[in-house]
Amino acid sequence: MHFHFSLNWFFYLLAYFALVTSVNGRNICRLTASGGDDAPQFLAAAASCGTVTIPEGTTLNISTRLNMTAMSNFKIDLQGTIFFNPDIPYWTGNAFQIPFQNQSTFWLLGGDNIVLSGGGTLDGAGQAWYDAFAVNASLFRPVILVLNEASNALVDNIRMVNSPEFFNFVNECQNVTYSNINLSAVSTSDNFIANTDGWDIYRSNNITIKDSIINNGDDCVAFKPNSTNILVSNLNCNGSHGISVGSLGEFEGVFDIVQNVLAIDIQIANAENGARIKAFAGSGVGSGMVQNITYQNFVVSNVDSPVVIDQCYETTTAACEEFPSNVIIQDVFFNNISGTGSSSTVATLDCSPDARCTDINVNNLSLTGPNGAAPKYECQNVNLTGNAVSLFGDCTTD
Ligand SMILES: *[C@@H]1O[C@H](CO)[C@@H](O)[C@H](O)[C@H]1NC(C)=O
Ligand SMILES: *[C@@H]1O[C@H](CO)[C@@H](O)[C@H](O)[C@H]1NC(C)=O
Ligand SMILES: *[C@@H]1O[C@H](CO)[C@@H](O)[C@H](O)[C@H]1NC(C)=O
Ligand SMILES: *[C@@H]1O[C@H](CO)[C@@H](O)[C@H](O)[C@H]1NC(C)=O
Ligand SMILES: *[C@@H]1O[C@H](CO)[C@@H](O)[C@H](O)[C@H]1NC(C)=O
Ligand SMILES: *[C@@H]1O[C@H](CO)[C@@H](O)[C@H](O)[C@H]1NC(C)=O
Ligand SMILES: *[C@@H]1O[C@H](CO)[C@@H](O)[C@H](O)[C@H]1NC(C)=O
Ligand SMILES: *[C@@H]1O[C@H](CO)[C@@H](O)[C@H](O)[C@H]1NC(C)=O
Ligand SMILES: *[C@@H]1O[C@H](CO)[C@@H](O)[C@H](O)[C@H]1NC(C)=O
Ligand SMILES: *[C@@H]1O[C@H](CO)[C@@H](O)[C@H](O)[C@H]1NC(C)=O
Ligand SMILES: *[C@@H]1O[C@H](CO)[C@@H](O)[C@H](O)[C@H]1NC(C)=O
Ligand SMILES: *[C@@H]1O[C@H](CO)[C@@H](O)[C@H](O)[C@H]1NC(C)=O
Repeated sequence: MHFHFSLNWFFYLLAYFALVTSVNGRNICRLTASGGDDAPQFLAAAASCGTVTIPEGTTLNISTRLNMTAMSNFKIDLQGTIFFNPDIPYWTGNAFQIPFQNQSTFWLLGGDNIVLSGGGTLDGAGQAWYDAFAVNASLFRPVILVLNEASNALVDNIRMVNSPEFFNFVNECQNVTYSNINLSAVSTSDNFIANTDGWDIYRSNNITIKDSIINNGDDCVAFKPNSTNILVSNLNCNGSHGISVGSLGEFEGVFDIVQNVLAIDIQIANAENGARIKAFAGSGVGSGMVQNITYQNFVVSNVDSPVVIDQCYETTTAACEEFPSNVIIQDVFFNNISGTGSSSTVATLDCSPDARCTDINVNNLSLTGPNGAAPKYECQNVNLTGNAVSLFGDCTTD
């Protein structure tokens, strides 16, 4: 076994060193497909090259996991495709574990000053996973790409298709931008593209996601615990669960923060939600703070719930009354949100009893129900401000 591996390794080195050029003392290495698992040569190139180029027309077949953490001044010029071989028994046993919601991944990419760009494709080969998940609801399905402890990173001009799970997880990162990303999950069977979130941000600061087109089956972008200073702009989200804060406050003893978020110029179509904030209440759950969140210039089309605060998330009315949410929500703006809902209720701002939401602003909301049906705006346990307050009438109290 050992000899076999070393010999392969030797040939990988030979293969890619033949393709090295050097610019300003930094090696640029061009990879070609090996015909077998390309993970070893990709890792070897990453370990010794400043730039790894995957040329147009080349598909790397990744059959074993990629740990590319603690990199520095590293660029991946992806013009071709990185394909994640759907060897389900291998990945369920060997994908990297992520300490959040039992997630796992094919690929950890992290370190300082990282670029992934080039117009190429990450292909998660999701169909095999969608079909397997349909018969095994506890299947661990990998996230395509986790930026892990990355700082000053850019992911630009990349296509991502058919992730088995979330497309992107941003874990403990600082100053990361994603731009010009086309992301799409499509199932060719009757089995759903479950949990194919576009981006989930966790314990990260200064993150930008912009100028991208998303077609998926779960959150377009979600701000999970400890997401701060986030800009999301110019996204076209189709088929998703919208742009979401949370859910927060799920775990007892854990304090979750989501602060300083601007989501602006967003189109959302055929989705469950538009702009949403959700937090747990009840006994034995966690706590937290949601502060300074602005949802602005949203255009929705055929969206089930265009504007949502749910501060009794997955909590019965009785439990929410007895144990109001300890995730405080304040300084929230829903500004300039227009379009059509799929039902007549177009906004539900439902806070826990006991004044747990403050300074919630609604301005320039112009939503209609399907086929022009008169819209209903609902609210509970909250004093709203802004020029759209009259649409809501008196909020109910619990
Ligand atoms: C990828 O590599 C694996 C392992 O070598 C192989 O079983 C599989 O057929 C390859 N897939 C493609 C599409 O080349
Ligand atoms: C990934 O590589 C880094 C740096 O070499 C190492 O510290 C870390 O333990 C590895 N992670 C896993 C999950 O193997
Ligand atoms: C993670 O998986 C374990 C074992 O399957 C399970 O007990 C636990 O509830 C899961 N945690 C979450 C957050 O889903
Ligand atoms: C379902 O998936 C889980 C987790 O990946 C695995 O442990 C289990 O063996 C699978 N069950 C079946 C029936 O394949
Ligand atoms: C953020 O990262 C980008 C690279 O994506 C870099 O150009 C910029 O200088 C960084 N900003 C800060 C404040 O470090
Ligand atoms: C994304 O889609 C747009 C519009 O179809 C296209 O112009 C752009 O080149 C695509 N980008 C990538 C990275 O595939
Ligand atoms: C966060 O962004 C601000 C404003 O651009 C910048 O001043 C600060 O250095 C950034 N912090 C980090 C850790 O990237
Ligand atoms: C948008 O989503 C709908 C519903 O999921 C789907 O039928 C349609 O093909 C999607 N459109 C695009 C452009 O992906
Ligand atoms: C979020 O940050 C706060 C303050 O630093 C910390 O107390 C809390 O444990 C963090 N929560 C999570 C989920 O990391
Ligand atoms: C509120 O968040 C926005 C967007 O991140 C930021 O520009 C602004 O400075 C924040 N306001 C305060 C008072 O922190
Ligand atoms: C409201 O949003 C629409 C759609 O994004 C945009 O065209 C319009 O300029 C915005 N209005 C203002 C006053 O910003
Ligand atoms: C609404 O404002 C009134 C007057 O300031 C206050 O007494 C009440 O507690 C507030 N209600 C909520 C749900 O915040």
